[in-house]
Amino acid sequence: MAGFRIRPYRDADYDVVREMYVSGFSEHLNALCVQALKQTWVQLVLVVFLLAAKAVSGSFLVSLMALIPLLVLAREGVRLLFNQQGIQLGLREDLLDIKASYMQEGQVSCFWVAEIHGRLVGTVGLLPCRSHTGAWELKRISVRKQFRRLGISKALCRTALGFAACGGVRDVVLYTSMLQTDAHKLYRSLGFHKIDEFVWPSLAAKLINFVVFKFGYKVQQREA
Ligand SMILES: CC(C)(COP(=O)(O)OP(=O)(O)OC[C@H]1O[C@@H](n2cnc3c(N)ncnc32)[C@H](O)[C@@H]1OP(=O)(O)O)[C@@H](O)C(=O)NCCC(=O)NCCS
Repeated sequence: MAGFRIRPYRDADYDVVREMYVSGFSEHLNALCVQALKQTWVQLVLVVFLLAAKAVSGSFLVSLMALIPLLVLAREGVRLLFNQQGIQLGLREDLLDIKASYMQEGQVSCFWVAEIHGRLVGTVGLLPCRSHTGAWELKRISVRKQFRRLGISKALCRTALGFAACGGVRDVVLYTSMLQTDAHKLYRSLGFHKIDEFVWPSLAAKLINFVVFKFGYKVQQREA
């Protein structure tokens, strides 16, 4: 496996960065569906549906078969919500104009990509956190599936944390969800600790008890 190289974002990376964000985020759709299926009210709806279908058809097998289109429909609904309330949010926020969001002269903010033989395989961004005054936020951490467990995201995050240290940043935070369990291991291995957790404040998220975690990191100061 060739070594990877980390460099600051360039305009030409725009489409690939956004595509990588969408595909990394989309990976968690199945885990989200499982989370929905764990909810008591969802299980109750399914049981009532099964009993009603059994009463109408007289056959347990037929009622089980009738459950399949219902589940497919429900998955499509979850996918649409996930896309609208999760994926599109990022594409409309900092990733809409990556240069303006991260690459302004004189600001302690930057966006980095990892590449192998010119192919973009990983991303991370650092900017002042809007929801935590005085802290900076790590965002958009993603590595292409076929290049995982090679230390690429760890190196990207260390680049961002080193940059933060040189810029005099003391606190770095990041937000992740209950679905991104691989990422939690990465964050702990970098020295982040969970500092908060809350159910995401939207109706859909509340219905499936979708929990968001906030991780924090104390930056070791160093000379610029
Ligand atoms: C999470 C993610 C960024 C990790 O990228 P990566 O380049 O594979 O991570 P690294 O190789 O740098 O791993 C660093 C450490 O993280 C932990 N880790 C990462 N992936 C892991 C996995 N699948 N299982 C267990 N531990 C894992 C390990 O501690 C690992 O160190 P080790 O390999 O020495 O044991 C990647 O899986 C990803 O892009 N996921 C989809 C997008 C996403 O969920 N992003 C997080 C947004 S909050």
